[in-house]
Amino acid sequence: MQEQARTLETNRLIVGDCVDTLSEIPECSIDLTVTSPPYDKLRDYNGFKFDAKGIGEALLRVTKNGGVVVWVVGDRIDGGRSMTSFRQAVMFQDIGFTVHDVMIYQKKNTPFMRSNAYTNAWEFMFVLSKNGAPSAFNPLKVPTARNGEELLTHNKLPDGINKKRRARLNKEKVRTNIWAYAVGLGGTTRDKIAFQHPAVFPEKLAEDHILSWTNPGDVVLDPMCGSGTTCKMAKLHGRKYIGIDISQEYIEIAQQRIDTVEQHSQQALTIKSSFPLPTRHSCPPTRHSCESRNPVF
Ligand SMILES: C[S@@+](CC[C@H](N)C(=O)[O-])C[C@H]1O[C@@H](n2cnc3c(N)ncnc32)[C@H](O)[C@@H]1O
Repeated sequence: MQEQARTLETNRLIVGDCVDTLSEIPECSIDLTVTSPPYDKLRDYNGFKFDAKGIGEALLRVTKNGGVVVWVVGDRIDGGRSMTSFRQAVMFQDIGFTVHDVMIYQKKNTPFMRSNAYTNAWEFMFVLSKNGAPSAFNPLKVPTARNGEELLTHNKLPDGINKKRRARLNKEKVRTNIWAYAVGLGGTTRDKIAFQHPAVFPEKLAEDHILSWTNPGDVVLDPMCGSGTTCKMAKLHGRKYIGIDISQEYIEIAQQRIDTVEQHSQQALTIKSSFPLPTRHSCPPTRHSCESRNPVF
C-alpha cells in the first residue's frame, strides 16, 4: 500500500524507542544518519534494550535514495573480541544497504589497555548507503607534505633517458578513511554537561561526516542521540536535525547542548566544502527505493 505523503518535522528531539519513533517518520526523508548504538551491554544506559536489526530496517525505510548511515561501533573485549561490529555490518548488508566504506575512528588518547594484547585505540565507522553510492560527497582534505614546483625524479621513457621535468604538486589531498580524534574533555567536546552521558563521541567526528555526506539544508538524524552530539553539529552547520533517545535524562542534556549553538552558528556557516554541491540522484525502484518525496519543514 502506498504510504501517504506526510510532512517531516525537523529540528527537534524526541524521547522514545527509536524503532517505534522511526515508524512515525516519513519514508525516504533522511539524508544522513550519524549514530552510535549501545553495544554488548558495555555500558548501562539506564537499563534500556536494543534491537539492531529492527533499527537497521527502520533506517533503511527513512533514508533517501543516495542517503547515508554512519554507524559507529566497537566490540566488547572480554577474553576476546565479541565481533558485534562485524555482525552488525553484515546485517546491514543483508537487509539491503550498500557497505560504501569501512572507516576507522582512531582515539588519539585511550585509557583502554590490555595486559595481553595491544592497546585498543579504535572503533569502526561503517558508511552505509541506500540504493547505490552516496549522492553527496564533499571530500575533506589535508595539506600535502610537499607542494609547489618540484623536479620530478622518475620520468623515463622507452629510450631510457630520464627526462626530468618540473611539475606543480598539489597543496592538498583527500584524507584517508582513518580519522583520529582526541577524546575526553576538550577533545570530545568542551561541553562539561555532555559527560553526564557515559559514551559521547567526538563533535569533530560528527562534524566531519556531516560535511562529507550532506549539503546545507539536508536532514540529519541520530536515532540514539545520547547527549546530542550529532544534532548539535548538524545545527551548527546549517543542516536540519532529528534526535531520538529512549532516555529523558539524555534528551535534556542534548537539548541544553543544542541550545548553546545559536551563539556561534554564524562562524560555523563560513566553513565551506571544497566541491560544488551535487543534487540527490533518482534511483530505479527496488525493494527499499524512494519513489516519492515528502515535504520537509
Ligand atoms: C553510544 S550512546 C550514543 C551517544 C551519542 N553518540 C553521544 O555522542 O552522546 C547510545 C544511546 O542509545 C540510547 N538507546 C538505547 N536503546 C535505545 C532505543 N531502543 N531507542 C533509542 N535510544 C536508545 C541510549 O540511551 C544511549 O544514549
